[in-house]
Order: sequence, then C-alpha cells, then structure tokens
Amino acid sequence: MSMKSNRFHISLVLGSFALLASNCNPEEPEPPGSSGGGPTAYDLDIPSNLPPMVIPFDNPMTVEGVNLGRFLFFEERLSDDNSLSCAGCHAQSFGFTDNGLQFSEGINGIAGQRNAMALINLGWGGSFFWDGRSATLEEQILEPVVNPIEMHEQWPDAMSKLNADAAYRDLFTAAFGVGSMDSVHAAKAIAQFLRTLISANSPYDRWKRGEGTIPLDAQLGYDLFRLEGGYPPFIPNGQGGADCFHCHTDAAGLFTDEQFHNNALDAVPPDPGVGGVTGDPFDIGKFKAPTLRNVAVTGPYMHDGRFNTLQEVIDHYNEGGEDSPTVDGFMKFVDPDETMELTPQKKAQVLAFLQQLTDTAFLTNPAFQDPGPP
Ligand code: HEC
Ligand code: HEC
Repeated sequence: MSMKSNRFHISLVLGSFALLASNCNPEEPEPPGSSGGGPTAYDLDIPSNLPPMVIPFDNPMTVEGVNLGRFLFFEERLSDDNSLSCAGCHAQSFGFTDNGLQFSEGINGIAGQRNAMALINLGWGGSFFWDGRSATLEEQILEPVVNPIEMHEQWPDAMSKLNADAAYRDLFTAAFGVGSMDSVHAAKAIAQFLRTLISANSPYDRWKRGEGTIPLDAQLGYDLFRLEGGYPPFIPNGQGGADCFHCHTDAAGLFTDEQFHNNALDAVPPDPGVGGVTGDPFDIGKFKAPTLRNVAVTGPYMHDGRFNTLQEVIDHYNEGGEDSPTVDGFMKFVDPDETMELTPQKKAQVLAFLQQLTDTAFLTNPAFQDPGPP
C-alpha cells in the first residue's frame, strides 16, 4: 500500500508568506543542487492530505542540512555538562514529548513550569512555544540551549566543542560550505531536521485518503469532533457535538488552527501564557492550540500537564471549564449550570477517534532516531 503523495520541490512553493516576509539577502548561498557541487536539495515528501509546506528562503532544505540537524538534535554537547540533548526532553516514541513527564528537568535538576511540547508537523507552525514567543523555528531553537533550566550552555561554548570535532567540521562543510559553525548554522540545521518530522500516516490519514478504514465508533467520534456543541436555542443541549474542530482544525489535516485560546482551564490563570509575552490583558491565559496528532502518546496534557488521560481532557471540555475574562467564545459551557451533555457513549467515541491519530510509522521512523556519534 503506497502512500499517495504530492511532491513539492521546495523552491517552487511560491506566493508564500515567507516570500513576502523574507528580505532579499545578497549573501544568500547558492540554491542547493545548483551547479558547482554544494549540498543536495532535500525532496520533502508531503502527504496528499496536508497542505504544501512553506520553507524559509534563507534556509532551504538540503540532505546534508537535515543530516547535520539530526546529529545536533541528539547532541548532548549542546548542554553545559554534556548530558542533555534536545532528544532528552523530546522522545520519539512519545511524539517527541518528555517521556510522560509533567515537567522536564534541565541539567541542573530544576524543573520548568511547562510541559514539553510535541514536535510534530512543525513545518506548518505559525509560531512556537505554548505562548508563541518565537516566530520561527530557527529562532525557537536558540532558546533551549541557553535556558538556565534546560541545557544551560552558551552557544559559543557549545559551538567550540563541536568545531573541535573533525567529524562535525566535515558535516558543517557538507551542509553549509563552512569549516566552522556558529549558532545560526546550528539552528538552521536543526530546523531543517524538525521540518522532516511529518506525521500523516495514522489510521485516520489512511481512511481519509481512501487507503483503509477506522472502526465505526471512531468514525462517529470524528463526526462529534466536527459538530457544534449544543447551543440553545439553535441546537438543543445534548444534541450537539463535542465541538473540537474550531481550534483543533482538521480541515488542513493539522488539528490546530495555530492560534491562541483560553480553553477555560482556570478562573485565574496562574500562567499568563501569551499575555506574559504581549503584556496585553486580553491575552492572559491564552495558549497555542496544540496538534492532536499522536495525542494518545503525548500525555500528560495541557501547557502544565494537568491532565493525565485523554478521558480527563474530554471530561474537561464536556463540563465546560472555568469562566474568566479571556475565555474563548467556543468554550460555550463555562456556566457552572451547563455542560456539553455528552453521554458516556459519545465521550468514548471521541476518545476512539483521538486514538486513530496515532501514527506508528512516525513514532518508529528510523530516520528520526539517534544516529550515534558523527
Ligand atoms: C529540559 C527539557 C527540554 C530540552 C532539553 C529541550 N526542550 Fe524543547 N521544549 C521543552 C518545553 C518544556 C517546551 C515548552 C516550553 C514553553 O512553551 O515555554 C519545549 C518546546 C519546544 C518547541 C516548540 C514546539 C511548538 O509546537 O511550539 C520546539 C520546536 C522545541 N522545544 C525544540 C527543541 C530543540 C530543537 C531542542 C534542542 C536544541 C529542545 N527543544 C530542547 C523542553 C525541552
Ligand atoms: C477554544 C478552542 C479549543 C476548543 C474548542 C478545544 N480545544 Fe483542545 N486545546 C485548546 C488549547 C488552546 C489547548 C492548550 C491549552 C493549554 O495548555 O493551556 C488545547 C489542548 C488540548 C489537548 C492537550 C494536548 C496536549 O498536547 O497537551 C487535547 C488532548 C485537546 N485540547 C483536545 C480537545 C478536544 C477533544 C476538544 C473537543 C472536545 C477540544 N480540545 C476543544 C483549544 C481548544
């Protein structure tokens, strides 16, 4: 059974936001694959039920860049005591989350206050971190290395460790034509690797592409997922759906609208979320709507990992959560006297659907595994 796919040569994805946003840089390297050697263009295989991916023009995907990025993702020398890599908190079998932990521990044994995010289909991401504080992946990657409660290393120190390693110097030369690498090269290479972490081969995807089917209860769960919640007088209570699709948009196959919402977790949000970045009171308690792909293996859930099971998550949405000034309009049941009125059977159907988003091929793909020392 072969996966139907559209092959997009990255250089041909035009009319993009990145094109409009990127400045013409006279020092831009030659496009990969052009005459005179240099790196080989990476042919990103985009599944037919996902949109084209927009690649930044100043960081084209190359085979050598992705290869280098993979080594760096598993490189413990990026941390101060050479003990923690990106993969240390982003484990493949957990959808690149932190091994079921609520909070990750950095090299100094200090735990953060946020749950490690899944690294899935990030090439379509609009902004990064729970509070969206990084606009690009390249920018995001610079942060965990220097974060004192994560890898707690200075980029120049990390880079001089790697530049001293002849095997790495060869990898840098192959990817970027440079003999020694700086943080910008490293971030570009890791971003290229992260863009290859594409998940679209779950039973749900194969069903969507007409290559297979999913159980009937999961199909009914999908209908509920995409149906408005009861909204008297328009939809009588108890006859509506689970109303997940507004924020976890399935239309483009990504299960996120890439927007920030307050999904009614707290009456007084202890973590300001986006509000902490923008300083705008209207942003307090808003967080990035995460993808739901592979959600069965990415628990615990929410920015603070407060829910251990998907059952608890579904119960939260059914009960409606806590009202607060910034709560999202699609959280329609924050009134303590109302619930979504999902029956136990409907809740089980929504759960059955979410379980169809588990992409075993992604979670075991050898191309995403530790390549060992360079
Ligand atoms: C100590 C554990 C830890 C380490 C090490 C770590 N991360 Fe993370 N990562 C996290 C946590 C926690 C978050 C969420 C933080 C937040 O939103 O404030 C996160 C968020 C991210 C995101 C945002 C995803 C999204 O959907 O917005 C990306 C991308 C990411 N990490 C990549 C990396 C890379 C690349 C490295 C190595 C350079 C790395 N991480 C190292 C714990 C870690
Ligand atoms: C108003 C927008 C909105 C609606 C409607 C919504 N969600 Fe969410 N969802 C979010 C946001 C935002 C988060 C992250 C919130 C946070 O961590 O503070 C989230 C988080 C989640 C998570 C945790 C994922 C993770 O990686 O931790 C799951 C699971 C989830 N939602 C499932 C659902 C289901 C199932 C429905 C329908 C019953 C639903 N959501 C409806 C916005 C929404």
